[in-house]
Amino acid sequence: MPSWWSGVVGYEIYVRSFADTDGDGVGDLPGIRTKLPYLADLGVDVIWLTPFYPSPQADHGYDVADYLDVDPRFGTLEDLLGLVAEAHGLGLRVVIDLVPNHTSDRHPWFLDARSSRDAEHRDYYVWKDSGPDGGPPNNWVSHFGGPAWTYDEPTGQWYMHLFLPEQPDLNWDNPAVHEEFRRILSTWFERGVDGVRIDVAHSLVEDPSFRDNPLLDVPIEDTSSPQEIFDRFSHIHDLDQPGVLDIYRDWRRVADPYDAVLLGEVFVLQPTKLARYLQGDALHAGFCFSALKVTWDGDEIRHTLRAHVEASGDALTWPLSSHDDPHAATRFGGGDLGARRALAYFTFLCALPGVPFLFQGDELGLDDGELASDIAEDPIATRNPGATGRDAVRTPMVWEPGPGFGFTTGTPWLPFGRNREDRHTATGQLGDPSSHLEQVRRLLTLRRRLPALTDGSPTAWPIEDGPVVAVERGGELLVALHVGDGGGSAELELPDGCELLFASAPQVALLDGTLHLPEDTAALVALEDARILPEDDDEGLTAARAAVDAADPMLVADPEEAP
Ligand code: GLC
Repeated sequence: MPSWWSGVVGYEIYVRSFADTDGDGVGDLPGIRTKLPYLADLGVDVIWLTPFYPSPQADHGYDVADYLDVDPRFGTLEDLLGLVAEAHGLGLRVVIDLVPNHTSDRHPWFLDARSSRDAEHRDYYVWKDSGPDGGPPNNWVSHFGGPAWTYDEPTGQWYMHLFLPEQPDLNWDNPAVHEEFRRILSTWFERGVDGVRIDVAHSLVEDPSFRDNPLLDVPIEDTSSPQEIFDRFSHIHDLDQPGVLDIYRDWRRVADPYDAVLLGEVFVLQPTKLARYLQGDALHAGFCFSALKVTWDGDEIRHTLRAHVEASGDALTWPLSSHDDPHAATRFGGGDLGARRALAYFTFLCALPGVPFLFQGDELGLDDGELASDIAEDPIATRNPGATGRDAVRTPMVWEPGPGFGFTTGTPWLPFGRNREDRHTATGQLGDPSSHLEQVRRLLTLRRRLPALTDGSPTAWPIEDGPVVAVERGGELLVALHVGDGGGSAELELPDGCELLFASAPQVALLDGTLHLPEDTAALVALEDARILPEDDDEGLTAARAAVDAADPMLVADPEEAP
């Protein structure tokens, strides 16, 4: 683990939709710089930036044409380096997105690779002859619809792409590809970034003989979305191959001397399978995607999260939402109810071993947008009639009331989401103690003062079933989440000497040793003798608050002046 990692809280920035300073309607790096004090003040410690590299944007930057530069639409390399330095000054770490499974089809390596069978970079990619029937070499399908192979007429072979044809897969059987990525990693670490989020970290290696994936026993309808078609195969040959761990063991030798983190987007839901990536000397940490798949059900949440904690402990990061999945507020019912549940659930995630991770807008309790299908940009939607795609979760941030919501002075690349009232915006919430934003901030500030949450203290799960899910850490702290079952408030008898430290809603109360926990709320309680650090021990936070006050008058928390 990097020395700075334990106890941190993460925040994902979808660069296109965060803050636009040049009025082109697309977020940019200078825009992110203006919001760093806001983030430091919120109490997050690590920001993850989605891809900002030069790219034709076929998959919004996950099609990289140059791993070491910045796309002019997002700014310059200088902007990025300035952002990193400024973030460091505020006590924030910066993790960038590394996309090693595939490049853009406009990457110079691929342009060369497809120029002839003898090209220098031909073997940087996966090329195969036609299958016995003259079609693709095997039955693998792309995540984004259609076969995972495209025929290249001039050279008479197929290249593999687990995503778009514009995203050819790299060939990780080729030592030269390994060498390129060692160089890319060390260049970024030399430049000061604190780690990488590794895109589709479970996908890099394939079955050496490229066998067909078995088809599960479900009929494929004409109307199936790419995801449904994808899910009808057992992906035993194209994903999650054991050899991929060797790549990360090798990268550890690059990352560790810089104290940089390797954080995997390992989309593997089975706890013990995910754990393999996080053990020994492979990845430092990995997202637990099951945490954003669970429904609002006590047994499901308990069972799922507990199994992951037992398998991987504090190597996990807990995403509340992401740019690929619905916002937690939408997932859990939408509107004010969804936001209330999302805050309760986040309270719970904050008490688990590992790193809670917000997606931009989660701190405001925002929902997904509602978008007409004819404006879709996500390739899942544009390539597949009827498929929803991921645009609705990527709508721009609402910073302040007004036509451009403080996101842009121009026309936003996607319309704003459905939460457009003043009370949904950041300035509308700052300074109002009952707002989602201020509650998240209070929770994160408090979390830093509770060593039992961040020092690897053991977990116990005192309630075996039902709508209340509870975790105890080190015999010092208890967090309880009530998802509700229509039976009203839950009453939990607690031992003597407990103190209610955080309640996700004002109706939560601890009276005479009984915790009153209404449906859709959570509480964090200190048991007797819990360690609670004094507030002013937190130098990082104090510095961040000072920077907010000095840097960005718009974001100074003054309820009187809030519009
Ligand atoms: C990851 C990204 C997603 C992207 C895909 C292909 O899952 O999070 O946005 O489309 O990889 O790179």
